[in-house]
Amino acid sequence: MNVQIVSKALHEAETEILVLTLFEDTLHNLGYLSELDQKLSGKLSRMIESKEIKGKYREFTVLHLDSPGPKRLLVMGLGKQKDFSIDRIRSIAANSSRYARRIQVSEIAIHDFSEYAVSPHDCSLALIEGVLMGMYRFDKYKSQKKNPEKKLQNIKIITSKNAQVDALRLGAEKGKNLAESTNFARDLVNEPANYLTPVRFAEYAQEVAKTEEIDIQVLGPEEIEREGMGAFLAVARGSEQPPRLVVMRYQGNPGGKTLGIVGKGVTFDSGGYDIKPSDSMLRMYSDMAGAAATLGAVRAIAREKLALNLVAVMPLAENLISGKAYKPSDILTSMSGKTIEMLNTDAEGRLLLADSLTYIQKYHHPDILIDIATLTGAAIVALGRTVSVALSNDDDLYSQFFKAGEYTGERVWRLPLYEEFRSQLISDVADIESVGGSSGGTITAAMFLNEFIEPGQAWLHLDIAVTAMMQEDIARYVKSA
Ligand code: BES
Ligand code: ZN
Ligand code: ZN
Repeated sequence: MNVQIVSKALHEAETEILVLTLFEDTLHNLGYLSELDQKLSGKLSRMIESKEIKGKYREFTVLHLDSPGPKRLLVMGLGKQKDFSIDRIRSIAANSSRYARRIQVSEIAIHDFSEYAVSPHDCSLALIEGVLMGMYRFDKYKSQKKNPEKKLQNIKIITSKNAQVDALRLGAEKGKNLAESTNFARDLVNEPANYLTPVRFAEYAQEVAKTEEIDIQVLGPEEIEREGMGAFLAVARGSEQPPRLVVMRYQGNPGGKTLGIVGKGVTFDSGGYDIKPSDSMLRMYSDMAGAAATLGAVRAIAREKLALNLVAVMPLAENLISGKAYKPSDILTSMSGKTIEMLNTDAEGRLLLADSLTYIQKYHHPDILIDIATLTGAAIVALGRTVSVALSNDDDLYSQFFKAGEYTGERVWRLPLYEEFRSQLISDVADIESVGGSSGGTITAAMFLNEFIEPGQAWLHLDIAVTAMMQEDIARYVKSA
């Protein structure tokens, strides 16, 4: 995808489709569209007067022109001015590019939102993210791709302000990097388990490390055993596919602070001997979405050359059944030394995470530690189908994370880590029990992880059980297929 920043008046923009936006409550004042409207002999204002264009959010009007500039106008409603956000820019960009693809044009142009409450950098970032994430399809296994002959190839951002060209260009480059890293993670999540095994995932990580020139270590079963990761290994043992522990390091600020990320990488979760019913097992090839998000973040951070140090740990295994598989009520010894009574083999993710959290703290001492996991079905019960659940022992860290979620459109909401939930994890026979009964499942899972967090370690746990495979069409760039 080729992105161009073009400094021109809107009516002079030579393009197949020019995308414009309007608020429903300021229609009387055409603002940045006045000059274009004049050139069109008042066509836009007449359509507004006749209420053919109302500016409602998601409204979509196409006008064919016979002018030398744009061949078509796509007028998109932005809704009420008070509801404006950069997420609406993403959504508009996604809808416009999907429309362009549907009618098989190879280029669209979009105005620069410079009259709106958004900086040029954030605007072009959101525009390009919206286009690239909105166009995403997982069609690798389709012999016949949809519309292969004419793809959307060029995006032009039209600005009348020369001074904004550089900021728009920088934002667009960043948007491209972020969206490509997100789509890379989406591809990994969508790959079925017969292709994406722990070994293959580690090969993708090697590839990222090579391209971005960063450190990588890949541990196999013997090395994992040598580290004493008895909880992680217990999960992996039921499968023919050997596990991997991928550790990646990016140094963007030597001597400075280090961010640690741990991502759950269960490449297939059958539930083990506590086997899942068929319907629940269907999409469990996506149970490595935490590791995919982690690898996507490593790629994005390294490409952006952010001034921070990053260490990422991705434990990868399959949760299957065999004569070697772990059984309900097995007692496992974790890397931390704590023994775990394992009451349900379907609660495998927390075992991978427990040992990985110990590992990252022991060897890499992160200043901030985040883990990402498709951990509990209870997260879906608690907060529905569009929000990730966050739990944290650090209010500032959570509040920064919350703000970042609002900015990126990937929203998070907090559940508490109250001490009384700890009592649900008391075991009669081991140091700790790992399931914690049927109530407050997302919280007790996090309380279990908390047992492996060192005193004073700032930590945030993100349960993405539902957002990893979002079906809801809350914004057209979000849906993953
Ligand atoms: N991978 C699942 C969680 C999950 C459920 C992700 C639905 C995406 C959609 C996890 O390993 C699991 O099975 N958790 C159990 C925990 C229970 C046994 C304590 C669950 O949520 O039922
Ligand atoms: Zn499970
Ligand atoms: Zn799982």
